[in-house]
Amino acid sequence: MSFSGKRYEFRDKHADYASLAGELHGLLAGEQDLVANAANMSALLFDALPEVNWAGFYFLRDASGRSSTGDGELVVGPFQGKPACVRIPLGKGVCGTAAATRKTLVVPDVHEFPGHIACDAASRSEIVVPLLRGTVLLGVLDIDSPRVARFDDQDRVGLERLAAIFVAGSR
Ligand code: SME
Repeated sequence: MSFSGKRYEFRDKHADYASLAGELHGLLAGEQDLVANAANMSALLFDALPEVNWAGFYFLRDASGRSSTGDGELVVGPFQGKPACVRIPLGKGVCGTAAATRKTLVVPDVHEFPGHIACDAASRSEIVVPLLRGTVLLGVLDIDSPRVARFDDQDRVGLERLAAIFVAGSR
């Protein structure tokens, strides 16, 4: 586990996401615990990404509270930011929609997204990346911003890369 505390300006998103990917590799090295890695990844992203007010995880759980490979709902995991709603059914809100479709969802204005679940009233835009191990959905990575249209396609590519590093390094 290593953490440089490097400051990112995000003037060159491609370069900064590449650098963050290297940093995440170092941070997760030697540890596979899902919760520990999610906690450190949330802290890394919240620290590194500008204009972000929430960064964290929802994991897919079945009725018994275990990891789910089929039906289930999203339950909040490690995060940084204001306290958040705990359970989100698949297909509901931005997180549940990204989980159900298994596709990254970039929402430029959450007020325009039908069914958006407001946890922090300051949130104005959001990106949700499904966490997939092959065809198995583990949950989602969710990042909110107080700025409208904070996330673009470069953020999608960069965060999908970071999510893949998390999935590959966590059990
Ligand atoms: N806005 C999300 C809920 C989670 S919070 O943003 C942390 C949604 O609509 O699914």
